[in-house]
Amino acid sequence: MIVEDTIHVSVREGYDVIIGKDLLVNTGKYLSAMFQERKAFVITDSNVKDHYLNTVLESLKDSGIDARFFVFPAGEGNKNLSTYESILNMLSENHCTRSDYILALGGGVCGDMAGFAAGTYMRGIPFVQIPTTVLAMVDSSVGGKCAVDLCQGKNLVGVFHQPSLVLCDTNTLSTLPQKYFKDGMAEVVKTGILCGGELFDLCCNFDIENLPKIISMCVEYKAGVVERDETEQGERKLLNLGHTAAHAIERCSQYTVPHGHAVAIGTSIIARASDRLGFSSTPISDDILSVLSSFGLPTSTEYSPEELLLASRMDKKSQGNEISVIIPEKIGHCVIRSIDFDVLSTIYEAGIS
Ligand SMILES: NC(=O)c1ccc[n+]([C@@H]2O[C@H](COP(=O)([O-])OP(=O)(O)OC[C@H]3O[C@@H](n4cnc5c(N)ncnc54)[C@H](O)[C@@H]3O)[C@@H](O)[C@H]2O)c1
Ligand SMILES: [Zn+2]
Repeated sequence: MIVEDTIHVSVREGYDVIIGKDLLVNTGKYLSAMFQERKAFVITDSNVKDHYLNTVLESLKDSGIDARFFVFPAGEGNKNLSTYESILNMLSENHCTRSDYILALGGGVCGDMAGFAAGTYMRGIPFVQIPTTVLAMVDSSVGGKCAVDLCQGKNLVGVFHQPSLVLCDTNTLSTLPQKYFKDGMAEVVKTGILCGGELFDLCCNFDIENLPKIISMCVEYKAGVVERDETEQGERKLLNLGHTAAHAIERCSQYTVPHGHAVAIGTSIIARASDRLGFSSTPISDDILSVLSSFGLPTSTEYSPEELLLASRMDKKSQGNEISVIIPEKIGHCVIRSIDFDVLSTIYEAGIS
């Protein structure tokens, strides 16, 4: 086992995010040190099950941990109330009590759903994240946001529930299909734009050998933001860079455009608009578009500014005639602006292509 980095997230009940190789086979050791004599409920999806469930179950067994598991069909379409209810039924049928814990083994869909079940079952039981996608490692497994989707929109029912531990085994990324790898890199580039410096440079000159280091830098940045603003009253909104247009694109496409792809397009739109409307102090859009394209991510959309604006009016983050938008002023410096929809319309017009 090689531990690349351990990052402590100092929220009320702080937790470690451990990044390294061959962590899965040591899951039992980590958990037996943390939770004595408790049952573990592993939740995973149908794809991740085939690759990693046995390794985790064996490791738990070797450490004397009594474990049950639940597998749901992979895909965003199953991050819903029906799967959530099935998880709750499985927990109660297996006499899960408040002293037991959940293990989320998979991507962001699994982490969000298992976390939501953990945050609400018996008013909250502990849970551990074992993210297996780039997106889940750099974004969804840290910070405690857990939610499921309704037909009316994504992530509409949720809680803030922080994990007790996050184990990022970067070996698991070797089986991740390329399209999901790209999705995660959109959030990595977003983080690179927010914090600038070495992280943005590592994105521009990407080398797969540096991936564990990149993941660790993203987690460190997000951990700092979450520590200062756990429930997104201010600074945490910065993490929504590119997401206003991204959410509109996802909605227009009826969620057929994957989140990371939508974030890449949304980030491109705001970067172009920032240059063209004079928000940026030096031109930034060429660099941003070039790094996104280098990962094979899209930088433009077929939807018109009018269609995006209409979709943004339904965004759960809009308030009355206003919406928060993150403006990149330069690489490493973005600001949160509350703007009205007329200004958003100007941004979409300026940045669309
Ligand atoms: N809670 C948060 O703060 C937060 C932040 C960002 C995104 N999200 C949520 O995350 C979700 C997207 O996460 P995602 O992109 O990880 O999607 P995902 O969980 O659907 O995983 C993508 C696909 O890869 C498969 N997979 C996962 N790991 C694998 C591996 N190692 N090898 C082979 N296949 C693997 C999955 O089965 C799935 O088919 C969305 O629901 C989004 O709303 C949450
Ligand atoms: Zn995102």
